[in-house]
Amino acid sequence: MKIAIASDHGGLSLKKEILNYLSTLSHTVQDFGCFTDDSVDYPDYAKPVAMGVAKGEFDRGILVCGTGVGISIAANKVKGIRAASVFDTETAKLTREHNNLNVLCLGGRILSVELAKEIVKIFLETPFAGGRHEGRLKKIAEMEK
Ligand code: RB5
Repeated sequence: MKIAIASDHGGLSLKKEILNYLSTLSHTVQDFGCFTDDSVDYPDYAKPVAMGVAKGEFDRGILVCGTGVGISIAANKVKGIRAASVFDTETAKLTREHNNLNVLCLGGRILSVELAKEIVKIFLETPFAGGRHEGRLKKIAEMEK
């Protein structure tokens, strides 16, 4: 899979752990920053990842900020993006099965490294269930027009 990843300063440390984890798997990963602890604005990092996924340049995106919430709000402004901040493994599974989540958002100040890695694994491995969920996602896509 081609994965785009980015964080703000609040998510940098967790992003580095996720990058290490991803390097043990067979994915192509592109990191869109940030690269230092300097305070930055999370929309600037949500944008290239969300645009890259929306354009089909990447299969999935992963975004990390302090809570995962601000960066998910920003990512969801891009047409075709279904992003959510995920805090547990069950939600990770259900957001793939039901919502076909294409951008996973994580809270660097909330999650343990181990839990975040589990969530990433589930996000990457769980297929969309389709069926009754297709129509619901179509209705969301209609709202983007
Ligand atoms: C940055 O301090 C913080 O507001 C940001 O990382 C994020 O938590 C916003 O939702």
